Amino acid sequence: MPALPSIGFFDSGWGGLSIMKAARHELPQENFCYVADCGNAPYGDRTHEFIVNRAVKITDFLLREQHVKAVVISCNTATAEAAEVLRARYPEAVIVGVEPAVKPACELSKTKKIGVIATTRTINSKRYRDLLTRYAAQCRVFSQGCPGLMECVESGQFHSPYTVSLLKKYLQPMKAQGIDALVLGCTHYPFLSEAIEELMGPEVMLLEPGAAVARHLKGCLKDKGLLNPQESPDGRDSFYVSGLSAQKTLVAQRLYSSARCFFELTV
Ligand code: DGL
Repeated sequence: MPALPSIGFFDSGWGGLSIMKAARHELPQENFCYVADCGNAPYGDRTHEFIVNRAVKITDFLLREQHVKAVVISCNTATAEAAEVLRARYPEAVIVGVEPAVKPACELSKTKKIGVIATTRTINSKRYRDLLTRYAAQCRVFSQGCPGLMECVESGQFHSPYTVSLLKKYLQPMKAQGIDALVLGCTHYPFLSEAIEELMGPEVMLLEPGAAVARHLKGCLKDKGLLNPQESPDGRDSFYVSGLSAQKTLVAQRLYSSARCFFELTV
């Protein structure tokens, strides 16, 4: 166990690194412990019960075995399905979730037409429907579940012909409707930004929650007096992975170049 408690992050795979990167920028002095549940991915095609069960097991591991001081659910799908259960189970813990950036997209959109891409499970969740009711009353929202896209990131195909063809299938209809903002509602999708930008053109802005989540996390830790007081920017990262393989570590290192310490996740 590191001398100073870490901050825990988890996702079904490497997508949550888009959140952890933003957090690393905001909190350079903190130690991070990232769980990639690659052996059980994708969450987006799983049942509610399955996702809750995995989220509980992983959060138990982070809080009880790794003694983290906060858990960041770095996955929209797991947040939609399991955040309430986790908060009820650990009322004292700092638990931060992520959700599609619908609110800023609606505020920034001029055409008042926005697109949201996410996993099918996120799009079908009650939490997502509530988000639209709360923040998107003034906008037309084109919501699209995107099976297969997270696998493109997991296999390192950030810009392959297959990835581009999948993106075309999901994005062209909403582009034709005249959206000017596209919410990346799955933490994997920021790693496809280049290919997405190419398809959507400069008139469509892309929104992802990494920086906002990182600021929120810092605020929560500060409020609870849990920030590491040391100023030196030498926080360490460790990675626990279910279904760990050489291919998995290679992709992780392409997404997060300083990734080194990988361990098999056994929960
Ligand atoms: N990265 C995840 C999200 O933000 C889910 C990917 C998946 O496992 O389907 O929803």
